[in-house]
Amino acid sequence: MSDFIPVNEPLLDGNEKNYLMQCIDTGWISSEGPFVKEFEEKFAARMGRKHGIAVCNGTAALDAAVEALGIGPGDEVILPTFTIISCVLQIVRSGATPVLVDADPLTWNMDVTQIEAKITPRTRAIMVVHIYGLPVDMDPVLIIARRHGLKVIEDAAEVIGQTYRGAPCGSLGEISTVSFYPNKHVTTGEGGMILTDDHELAEVCRSLRNLCFQPKRRFAHERLGWNLRMTNLQAALGLAQLERLDQFIERKRWLGRRYNELLAGLPGVQLPLEATDYAENIYWVYGLVLDESLKFDGQEAMKRLAKAGVGSRPFFYPLHQQLVLKEMGLFDGKHYPVAERIGNRGFYLPSGIALQPSTAKYVAEIVRSLFI
Ligand SMILES: Cc1ncc(COP(=O)(O)O)c(C=O)c1O
Repeated sequence: MSDFIPVNEPLLDGNEKNYLMQCIDTGWISSEGPFVKEFEEKFAARMGRKHGIAVCNGTAALDAAVEALGIGPGDEVILPTFTIISCVLQIVRSGATPVLVDADPLTWNMDVTQIEAKITPRTRAIMVVHIYGLPVDMDPVLIIARRHGLKVIEDAAEVIGQTYRGAPCGSLGEISTVSFYPNKHVTTGEGGMILTDDHELAEVCRSLRNLCFQPKRRFAHERLGWNLRMTNLQAALGLAQLERLDQFIERKRWLGRRYNELLAGLPGVQLPLEATDYAENIYWVYGLVLDESLKFDGQEAMKRLAKAGVGSRPFFYPLHQQLVLKEMGLFDGKHYPVAERIGNRGFYLPSGIALQPSTAKYVAEIVRSLFI
């Protein structure tokens, strides 16, 4: 195998071309085109939600969700430190304070037992982020949120098609968000969606997405919005992808289990959990965490894999270690040992929907050879 194996490749061999050609043939390429509404309705229905607001990416979906909840100066939002920076951007830009919790060493999700101790009179919301294919244990989060009157923002970017105790991820927050980047289970190239059952919140999000145009008088504005609109071209792709979501999830599960078999028994290597009592892993990415007993860490392993033609990516760099946030005076002297450890020692293997079984086998052989 001579070609470099990318960490992700999407599968675009369903109706994608057909729907895209309809955009070209009809001239509907902007956000005004009919696929946008159809995609919003079908995706929201699949996630068990009343409203879907399509936007230009998952980060924008989070920005709008935080703004729509009215989070601002003096407020605190609890979220995991082990996540992508997208989660914290609008919290800090709005003047609110992010309050972090550490990760669980086995699921890599936020340790929900740490949440309640972080609540203060200023806490407004808990942002949960489902990491790498297993959902956050939501029941305790929802109980705490109800007890303290807090909003739940659910970032389901990585778990489109996953369920928590049978309920779709993306249906579990007052407001939930997803991303449609090409490594996600439904892709639009770039894209995202906000999901909610609350009519008013949905209206605010629709307005924020579209520069807060006023119905009364166009070009007269009473609130600061953004242009976060999704194009008809993107929605065309998304619609075709959505048709195959169940098939994609089945494929990801098969691939994850296959890697588990092929990599079983490697000394000092932690593999993803196959299941918890509330969900079966869908292996959005197939992650490994290397033990301190090994002579090399995640960074070194990735270098060696690259030399052998195998793509990989490091785990998230925790939020409390991000220079840009530290320079703002955030998280001073705070340590979150689990996130620091997995952030340093974790990485993931090629795990895209288009990955062939023979390639996974080859990747596993290369990984095994690192440990001989
Ligand atoms: C958990 C999570 N949230 C948000 C995002 C941001 O999505 P996007 O890249 O579409 O802005 C990502 C991206 O991978 C993600 O993994």
